[in-house]
Amino acid sequence: MLDRGEDSRQSQRIASKNMDNQKSRLPGLIRSVLIAIAIAVSYPYLAGRISALSTLTSSALNKISEERSFSKYEVLFQDQIRNCEDAILVEGHGAAILSCDAGRDRWNTVMGTFYQNRTTITPGRLWLYRYDEQMHSGSSGLYPIKFEALPDESKFHPLGIEYHENSSTLFVINHHLDGSRIEVFDLNLKSHDPIARHKRTLIHPQLTTPNSLRALNEHELFVSNDHYFQVRMNPLLAKAETYGALPLGGVVHVHMHNDGSTSVRPLARVPFANGVEFLNASTLAVASTSARDVRLYNIKSDRSLELVETISVPMMPDNLSVDKKGGLLITGHPHLPALARMISNRARCLDQNLADERACYDMSVPSCVMEWTGESGIKTVYRTAGEFSSSSTAVRDVGYGIGLITGLYEKGILVWKE
Ligand SMILES: *[C@@H]1O[C@H](CO)[C@@H](O)[C@H](O)[C@H]1NC(C)=O
Ligand SMILES: *[C@@H]1O[C@H](CO)[C@@H](O)[C@H](O)[C@H]1NC(C)=O
Ligand SMILES: *[C@@H]1O[C@H](CO)[C@@H](O)[C@H](O)[C@H]1NC(C)=O
Ligand SMILES: *[C@@H]1O[C@H](CO)[C@@H](O)[C@H](O)[C@H]1NC(C)=O
Repeated sequence: MLDRGEDSRQSQRIASKNMDNQKSRLPGLIRSVLIAIAIAVSYPYLAGRISALSTLTSSALNKISEERSFSKYEVLFQDQIRNCEDAILVEGHGAAILSCDAGRDRWNTVMGTFYQNRTTITPGRLWLYRYDEQMHSGSSGLYPIKFEALPDESKFHPLGIEYHENSSTLFVINHHLDGSRIEVFDLNLKSHDPIARHKRTLIHPQLTTPNSLRALNEHELFVSNDHYFQVRMNPLLAKAETYGALPLGGVVHVHMHNDGSTSVRPLARVPFANGVEFLNASTLAVASTSARDVRLYNIKSDRSLELVETISVPMMPDNLSVDKKGGLLITGHPHLPALARMISNRARCLDQNLADERACYDMSVPSCVMEWTGESGIKTVYRTAGEFSSSSTAVRDVGYGIGLITGLYEKGILVWKE
């Protein structure tokens, strides 16, 4: 992509040289027409970028207003969990699985925080929240999921998670200190103390920046890679990729074969591909964080993807989920620079205040959750300048009338009642 940019600049230079030579013969009108065509061709890209970048100014930050579609809500488990990225519902069990990583303050492979002294990076963990009080009378609440046979538990940093209920298989994207990978577990939710037994680790050159995943079945996954350039290796190019919304990330199809081998096939190129979710059996929704849209793809029988619709959203979308009524919940960051600033301030604060870390966790940034349906389009579920900070995922159990929001750099989770 960048090479091609180089090529076209080269040919532009050659073209303008030729134009210089013929300047005397080229009437001004033709030159103006050529320039107008060049601007017109790049206009959709530039217009999109300018409108996206205009939302990144600090006046845009001050204009974020509070809005809520629900009235009853509270933030739970503030003293127990922090930095939860992902949540998935297992409605049949009246429970949610949460992926939380306190170590993200010092280790974030997506935004680029890498502590040199690795002994200070605490590992992340998974939690089971049994929210259905009737189903779990006497034992509703939060339970840590214990791991069995997970190698390098001290280097475990979970991001996207997925549970395939029929085979009780849990898939976890692990931003392991030695390189990102996908861990496959067997998780039985029936036992009182949930235990995830490790089965397999997937490491693959086409899974270098995995972010989110969805299982088609026990053996096949759709996985998003957020970037082509890894922040760890190429911080500047990764930043250019984010703010330029270059379509270098994307979605891949992963097939785990019975003989232990894995094949990975790239399917769609998407700028900063983030949450992936099945809208229905034949449609996959993919959030593009930097292009500020959600793309709907038709899933063909050979698992390839065909773009059918693009939904623009007034924020940088992070994760997606679909509820039982078919509503697509889109959660994200109304102001990415504020988030990036908070992340680096927090890392600096922790570096300087090893004695009392608590003050470093009080910084907050805006959050936003929206809902899309084919019939009514986009509407706001929750927006705040900082009451519950850095939202990344929202899920809703419409049968039970409850919704959860996780915050990438927040304490606890927000739970709302409908
Ligand atoms: C790393 O941090 C640990 C725990 O705070 C400390 O004991 C150790 O001396 C540090 N190592 C280095 C090389 O700074
Ligand atoms: C987002 O949500 C989907 C579906 O609920 C899940 O599969 C994925 O792992 C999630 N995580 C991230 C980090 O986007
Ligand atoms: C789970 O199994 C049921 C019954 O065998 C089947 O109808 C359903 O499609 C399966 N679901 C998934 C997600 O594989
Ligand atoms: C799935 O959702 C898409 C987008 O809303 C819609 O066009 C399509 O008809 C749906 N397919 C099924 C099988 O419901």
